[in-house]
Amino acid sequence: MLALARAMMARAYAPYSKFHVGSVVRGANGKLYGGCNVENIAYPTGTCAEESAIAAMIADGETRITEALVMGPEGDLCTPCGSCRQRLREFATDDLPIHIADPTGIKKTFTLGELFPMSFGPTVLQK
Ligand code: THU
Repeated sequence: MLALARAMMARAYAPYSKFHVGSVVRGANGKLYGGCNVENIAYPTGTCAEESAIAAMIADGETRITEALVMGPEGDLCTPCGSCRQRLREFATDDLPIHIADPTGIKKTFTLGELFPMSFGPTVLQK
């Protein structure tokens, strides 16, 4: 996961923030899917690394995430933004491990439930 995240981070398109992020999700099928942030001159149009990793997974036909990793530059932990926590929740449960890394390695691991407690998840509408 670390190697793929490093490769993704290197390909990030972040000319405005200069903040390169790589993300990797592992599908229930065991495959790894990577993504990077893609910014846009119309700032709100930019997308997060987690968003593109999830899109790659869905495009491949997988809909369950069993492990996730987010890699940012050295310094503060690059935890997923609020929107990406919700995006991860769509395809994972509270026990999902989310590794927060920088290019030197994993710095801390949280569960999705720790980062995003009392979430509004897909089961709410499945009753
Ligand atoms: N970003 C991500 O791609 N994922 C995160 O978890 C945090 C932030 C991106 C969005 C934007 O391109 C840049 O980092 C600065 O916020």
